[in-house]
Amino acid sequence: MSTIRVAIDGPSGAGKSSLARAAAATLGFLYVDTGAIYRTVGLSARDRGVDPGDGAAVAAMLPALQVELRYDGAGQQKMFLNGRDVSGEIRLPEISRYASAVSALPVVRAYLMETQRELARKNNVVMDGRDIGTVVLPDAEAKIFLTASAKVRAERRCRELEERGTPQPFEEVLRDIEDRDFRDTHREAAPLRQAEGAALLDTSALDFQQSLEALLEIIQERTGL
Ligand code: DC
Repeated sequence: MSTIRVAIDGPSGAGKSSLARAAAATLGFLYVDTGAIYRTVGLSARDRGVDPGDGAAVAAMLPALQVELRYDGAGQQKMFLNGRDVSGEIRLPEISRYASAVSALPVVRAYLMETQRELARKNNVVMDGRDIGTVVLPDAEAKIFLTASAKVRAERRCRELEERGTPQPFEEVLRDIEDRDFRDTHREAAPLRQAEGAALLDTSALDFQQSLEALLEIIQERTGL
């Protein structure tokens, strides 16, 4: 039986993860956070002292990596790196930069492709990332490009960091988001862009509940669920 695939792409801080997770829970689908996979590779580069921009050095590191997604009883995705639970560590701001750098390398994208496709072959998924609708699952039943203005995303990110007990100044967060947007949209390998046939959802003026309703409406419209 073929599976139902919901592909959500968009820039960082657009609310993708929390919205995709909530939509997956509503639909009873598996939520796959692909950013967490790139973050795990980024973390490994940092741990091994590998320059994340050095394609040859990162490629040499890949065969020794065992990157695993596991789901706990509550359906929460956990990332394991060579058997170690790194789900907390990959969220450190420093790892965002490593993840962004390694994700620009075609060798890394190719290495992670099959893991992502296999998950979507075996499960109904809501998968989020940067190239899910464009490259990983271009024939997904529902494709959504989820975005919000850089300022709104920086405000949301600041609140999140504060709640986590690691506050950062707004200007710094905004600059980080703008830098990352630039890198993610200008890289040669699978740049971030709205996939052909994807619905555009801008959440700048919407709260979480309104965004979720809009997202579910698009998914229902496209999958007939
Ligand atoms: O969504 P995130 O911030 O956790 O993603 C971390 C980095 O990985 C980010 O710089 C973009 C990159 N990424 C990617 O290139 N492709 C994906 N499918 C998901 C994330």
